[in-house]
Amino acid sequence: MTLSTRTMAFSAMLCLLPGLPQAGSVEVLHYWTSGGEARSVQVLQQAMQEDGHTWDDFVVQGGGGGNAMATLQDRVLRGNPPTAAQIKGLDIQRWARLGFLSNINDLADEQQWDERLPPVVAAAMQYNGDYVAVPVNVHRTNWLWANKRILDSVGVAVPTTWAEFDRAADLIAAAGYRVIAQGHQDWQHATLFETVALSVGGPEFYQAALVEHDFRAMRSDTMDAVFDRYYRLLEHMPLSDDLGEWNQATSLVINGEAAFQFMGDWAKGEFSAEGKVANTDYVCAPVPGTQNQFLFNIDSFAIFDLRGASQADQTAQNDLVRNIMDDSFQRTFNQNKGSIPPRTDMSMSAFDDCARVSMSEFIAAAANDSLLPSIAHGMATTGTVQGYFYEKIGELTVNPISPSESSRELAKAIRYGQYVIK
Ligand code: BGC
Repeated sequence: MTLSTRTMAFSAMLCLLPGLPQAGSVEVLHYWTSGGEARSVQVLQQAMQEDGHTWDDFVVQGGGGGNAMATLQDRVLRGNPPTAAQIKGLDIQRWARLGFLSNINDLADEQQWDERLPPVVAAAMQYNGDYVAVPVNVHRTNWLWANKRILDSVGVAVPTTWAEFDRAADLIAAAGYRVIAQGHQDWQHATLFETVALSVGGPEFYQAALVEHDFRAMRSDTMDAVFDRYYRLLEHMPLSDDLGEWNQATSLVINGEAAFQFMGDWAKGEFSAEGKVANTDYVCAPVPGTQNQFLFNIDSFAIFDLRGASQADQTAQNDLVRNIMDDSFQRTFNQNKGSIPPRTDMSMSAFDDCARVSMSEFIAAAANDSLLPSIAHGMATTGTVQGYFYEKIGELTVNPISPSESSRELAKAIRYGQYVIK
């Protein structure tokens, strides 16, 4: 026996001894590829490697996760699921209903999830009352990011109303800057649209139209007013296929070429990765008119049932879940990602101003019925309805029609998505 085969045999023997940790491997599907996202997922890879496990990165390019979901479906249907996959909201229910997810109640009890997670997060992680997914963060989609130097140079503060926004936009455009940086992809347009719907219509309207899909709300004058405001923003938002990814748009704000980006707080991960500081280099503010309102987007890993996997791989899967809910992962990951921890029992003292505002508005919104699920990020509807919503908003963004015709078209698309079987 050579020295190395002897070492291997010895490690294999150690793994079989009861009470000793077993090194297994995890395959984790995600779509976190931008600068801030990659730094975030590395925190989890590192924690798993420190436990002696192997991390098999199953990464699928594409912001918003559309490509990742298609790839996942293909893999699972071929009988080869990953250990865990970044799946969100109502899609978690779908995978659980089909019997692919594992019950992780024992781990949830061990780490007292019920005491640590607010009800809205806990509910999203459960199917029929059983935990089947573990949350990594809470993102807020109704954020506006601004380059501070540009605002200072034209002498405006971050707008808190649309009237202020219009005034600032005119000054910024006159000074030769791009007003809004927006990646030209349907999911990004849908993300902007939902925040305008919340701002113009308010929480009750948002809930009725975009969560419950009440036909009267979808066809109301309020929805027409939402389209009217959305189309006015397009005037300051040059779209081009050369500017596709959301993080390319964030770079324009970081580099001082554009003043604003409307985007969820994963954008903050890009500012942080570039060493930019909140309130010095950039400003975060709620989308005008949405102070104390919160459109949530919870990232989570659904845990797959690894029937027939080795004991070591099962152990690695359990350690993955344990690591995700651990204080230290939750802190560093969310600092890098731009989000807040889903655990409301954690201290926010190590977080920046934007994250602290986010946490306090998350709690305030929960208390005043203004904590609402993001339709653009799979929290409010199934992936099918979300797909039709994306498609229609994408189409209307490229070819705007009158606001009332737009409302009719969108209502039809959402209705279609609700009834079509996919
Ligand atoms: C996810 C974020 C991600 C963003 C851009 C969102 O749907 O929740 O984690 O950073 O898409 O890919």
